Amino acid sequence: MSENLAVVEEIYDSKRIFNLNEIRKDFPILSREVNGKPLVYLDNAASSQKPQSVIDAVTHFYTHENANIHRGLHFLSEYATESYESARLKVKEHINAMSVSEIIFVRSATEAINLVSNSLGDMNFFDEGDEIIISTMEHHANIVPWQMLAKKKNLLLKIVPINDKGEIIFEEFEKLISEKTKLVSIVHVSNALGTINPVREIIKTAHSFNIPVLLDGAQAMPHFKVDVQSLDCDFYVFSGHKMYGPTGIGILYGKTFYLDKMPPYQGGGDMIREVTFEKTTYDDLPHKFEAGTPNIAGGIGLGAAIDYFNQFDEIDMLNHENEILKYVTEKMSEIEGLRIIGTAENKSAVVSFVIDDIHPYDIGTIIDTDGIAIRTGHHCTQPLNKFFGLPATARASFAFYNTLEEVDKLIKGIYKVKRMFS
Ligand code: ALA
Repeated sequence: MSENLAVVEEIYDSKRIFNLNEIRKDFPILSREVNGKPLVYLDNAASSQKPQSVIDAVTHFYTHENANIHRGLHFLSEYATESYESARLKVKEHINAMSVSEIIFVRSATEAINLVSNSLGDMNFFDEGDEIIISTMEHHANIVPWQMLAKKKNLLLKIVPINDKGEIIFEEFEKLISEKTKLVSIVHVSNALGTINPVREIIKTAHSFNIPVLLDGAQAMPHFKVDVQSLDCDFYVFSGHKMYGPTGIGILYGKTFYLDKMPPYQGGGDMIREVTFEKTTYDDLPHKFEAGTPNIAGGIGLGAAIDYFNQFDEIDMLNHENEILKYVTEKMSEIEGLRIIGTAENKSAVVSFVIDDIHPYDIGTIIDTDGIAIRTGHHCTQPLNKFFGLPATARASFAFYNTLEEVDKLIKGIYKVKRMFS
């Protein structure tokens, strides 16, 4: 056996066996009932469920460690600071950032994008008439902040078109790049379609014109490991609550090259070096971007979510999710009048669909009576819905803890809806 293979085997051996029954026991909410039926939770793209270890980490913090961080010399404050900073280190290791100072704790992926847009806007990164490239499939969080900035600074948003499968048309992306392009901001995995975008190629192309790239990774992080150095993205943003962590905590990763030059987004305590009434000097990274008391318990909970995720071999999780995706796609394709929206070659376990003459809200409401949770609506991607000519869709989004039996229940629920409307 080669030395490398031995190392790989050793890592594999140290991972927890992917046993769905055991995994589901880690998530207390999965054993509850809804409307007298076992919960079938298929709204993971909106927010995923939390393992007991994450719940325990948050409870443990408030029970045994609660104090403000970076402020006190007393035991608890130092302890809380250490726990919070060790969570930052876990994030750094998880996404393979170069340094902890590139990991900024924020409230959500949305706040991270607002931080970047405001800060770049304030440092005159953009000149009047400059262009920002986004795509047709962006979440509102990766549209509206840039629109707001564009209005303030007279910038232009350029939109990468997609094909009917819900894939970015790469040649069109290339054509959109001009000498005015200052930033590309693209979703890694689409929340509404599941499409996994060719971000490596996008980054390579943008970088060949010296254009930085921000990736919205909110829907990628729950499904696979992301290596920001290998991708070479300039910014990467995500939320804790979609990757089995708490709500109210998110991450902005940015290359030091940019973060160093960017001015603070918010002012207040904990981000300063010295304040006088005449002038304030700011702290070093990452604290320069972290004004005020942060979501300490949330950060620690996110660290616990990362530990939980890393117990498993990523390939086992992905194989299982891909099996679910294949199965649900096959089953849905057999349903007359059902159309799947988003059929990209490379997609994650998200299936948006519509059924002839039945409103998505009716689908969602009826199957909810059987304890099945899916999302219906525009999924915060109204321009994408417009592209498909649909005001709304129904969406089932899966996590590694979902089962094929749950897919069967969803399919049975859809047949029931169809019967009720026939
Ligand atoms: N962005 C979240 C979703 O797709 C809320 O449901």
